[in-house]
Amino acid sequence: MTKKDNTDYISEINRLKKNKNAVILAHYYQTEDIQDIADFVGDSLALSQKAASNNADIVLFAGVKFMAETAKILSPEKKVLLPDMNAGCSLADSCKAEDFKKFIEENPGRTVVTYVNTNIDIKVLSDIICTSSNAVEIIESLPAGEKIIFGPDRNLGNYILNKTGRDIKVWNGTCHVHEEFSLEAILKLKKEHPEAKIIVHPECELPIRIVADFIGSTSALLQFTKKDDSVTYIVGTEPGIIHQMRKANPLKEYIPAPPKDSTCGCSECNFMKLITIEKIFKCLRDEKPEILIDTEILNKARRPIMRMMEISEKLGL
Ligand code: 13P
Ligand code: SF4
Repeated sequence: MTKKDNTDYISEINRLKKNKNAVILAHYYQTEDIQDIADFVGDSLALSQKAASNNADIVLFAGVKFMAETAKILSPEKKVLLPDMNAGCSLADSCKAEDFKKFIEENPGRTVVTYVNTNIDIKVLSDIICTSSNAVEIIESLPAGEKIIFGPDRNLGNYILNKTGRDIKVWNGTCHVHEEFSLEAILKLKKEHPEAKIIVHPECELPIRIVADFIGSTSALLQFTKKDDSVTYIVGTEPGIIHQMRKANPLKEYIPAPPKDSTCGCSECNFMKLITIEKIFKCLRDEKPEILIDTEILNKARRPIMRMMEISEKLGL
């Protein structure tokens, strides 16, 4: 096939989707063109719920590997495709199973709650999974006095520890995007735009969370900008989310929070951005790369994810 431009790929993708009964699920950190061709765009929790409840034969995941794996775990009978298997996650990689196992052994008698941003071998070691949309509620659903281990994100862990006051031992992992935001640059922006609200993801470091007007998951940040009556926001998460904010309220201004190193585009998640329209087309055409998981491992990882899904459903999340 000769080199195509995006428009050709998009019409091919739409044709293939129909012929193959496929759906495209995209995370908010994907590029605008990908968000616009997706059947569903959402945060980690909503994407998991969608993966578990659609009638497609093929789910193409425009996101990172742990998200596609979660989709496969929730829908093992479906073919789950990820256009680039290198789309990993620095946060997931900051928690190796061998080390995490040791951490659990060193802190016995604790319920192991892990963020969905993990590799599958960490999910196997977990009692219950959460996302940034339900982390506080999942912790609060556990009996008072229950001792907890939380991993891998230390910022989200400390955020929920402060919110819930529970006894939580937090693993020391971080995401390379969210730990890069510069407090100094954010405060400088705030001086230039005193009317702006600072809204950030809980994966951001404490000094950034302290100056924030609102802290929440990607979908919570989006909802906040929809309901709030300010007109300017300094957005402390991967800037892909701004596309949906702009679509919902085009007249408002959304300023991406600057990273510490102003010469790099390091507030973008380079893993998320590995997915392109061309790769989506090829992946759907060839039905590969496909997420394949050993059945025993899949079943072990499914238990803590299902606990999260059940609690979320009960709480209407
Ligand atoms: P959300 O669940 O808030 O979409 O976050 C996913 C993520 O990877 C944040 O870096
Ligand atoms: Fe992982 Fe961070 Fe990228 Fe989210 S932004 S997928 S936590 S590397």
